[in-house]
Amino acid sequence: MNLTIVAGARPNFLKIAPLIKELDIAINKGNELAYRLIHTGQHYDDNLSKVFFEELGIPKPHNNLNVGSGSHAVQTANIMVAFEQELIDYPSDMVIVVGDVNSTMACSIVAKKLHVKVAHIEAGIRSFDMNMPEEVNRMVTDSITDYYFTPTETANENLMLSGADAKNVFYVGNIMIDSLMQNRDKFIEPQCVKDNNINVSKSIVLTLHRPENVDYPEKLEKIIKTIITNSYGYKIIFPVHPRTRKALSDIDIDHERLILTDPLTYLSFNYLVQGCLAVITDSGGVQEETTVMGVPCITLRNNTERPETVSIGTNELIGTDIPKLEAAINTVIAGRWKEGGIPDMWDGKTAQRIVNVLLEIAQQQ
Ligand code: UD1
Repeated sequence: MNLTIVAGARPNFLKIAPLIKELDIAINKGNELAYRLIHTGQHYDDNLSKVFFEELGIPKPHNNLNVGSGSHAVQTANIMVAFEQELIDYPSDMVIVVGDVNSTMACSIVAKKLHVKVAHIEAGIRSFDMNMPEEVNRMVTDSITDYYFTPTETANENLMLSGADAKNVFYVGNIMIDSLMQNRDKFIEPQCVKDNNINVSKSIVLTLHRPENVDYPEKLEKIIKTIITNSYGYKIIFPVHPRTRKALSDIDIDHERLILTDPLTYLSFNYLVQGCLAVITDSGGVQEETTVMGVPCITLRNNTERPETVSIGTNELIGTDIPKLEAAINTVIAGRWKEGGIPDMWDGKTAQRIVNVLLEIAQQQ
């Protein structure tokens, strides 16, 4: 069976790395599987793309579509045009997409229209917030997916409610956690810790990149100033996504305890997360990683497509309500944050389970 694996943006790379490792093992054992890895080029900066390939040992893509940035329509359209040519040039039996970025949706549509089977890893999760571009991507992708690989029971239920055929839903667990477990003993202290003489346990890690938080400079300024005011004695380490960098240039947030850095590599970012007091974020994947590492996570969103991180894990949703943000920081500094557990099947073996399913599908063909 010929597979085409698609990755386009930073969080995708964490999800394809363990899959490719397991596929290579299966191929080396003589199984009739082959794959092409396609990078759409949605993320192209070295620190959002190349370093992830290097740190996670992902092989060089067979093709980079080099689509770059643009409006949603422009980016999606460019990916579709380029990926259609890829599939015409290199016919595939199954396109594997991961996550919820524009590349995920664009390539699944192209595959489906060329009558190629679509497999979606991280299928079924929902925020039910159609203002998020990722929610649109998830819903469109899942509406045309043939094989659903789900991370949680909630994802299974969401798919059942949307009419998916149960025999094509494979509850395999959370593949991001495979990457985390494979790399936990390799975390690297980032240079900014030495440069700024930071005691990581006396720091809070901040990440913000969602359009609803960073595309409005006044809102962004208020969030950052609230964090600074309420975290006396703690450094705030803020790796800045390119999208956020643009907004920061319009506001004045200089403070001796606020350390801004370029986006960090996977191994250095998670070094900080593992050792810090708490994380404040609007990311999806960071909610999962903090849950597995047992680190308090304050999420600046009103909803999450990863509800288990709240019901089981260490995550709390506080939206962008300033009094709630103040209260959450005070709770964490006082050492009164909830203890969390780890959801079922977030055990580092998800890629193995996916490859086992792929082998069964290959046998049936
Ligand atoms: C994308 C995903 C989001 C994911 C995030 C992780 C979509 C709709 N969004 O958001 O789900 O959480 O990646 O980072 O797919 N830029 C650079 N260098 C790059 C890439 C982008 O400077 O390598 C800048 C460009 O100005 C671009 C902006 O960042 O316009 C946004 O990039 P884009 O790929 O549109 O979305 P993200 O905000 O990165």
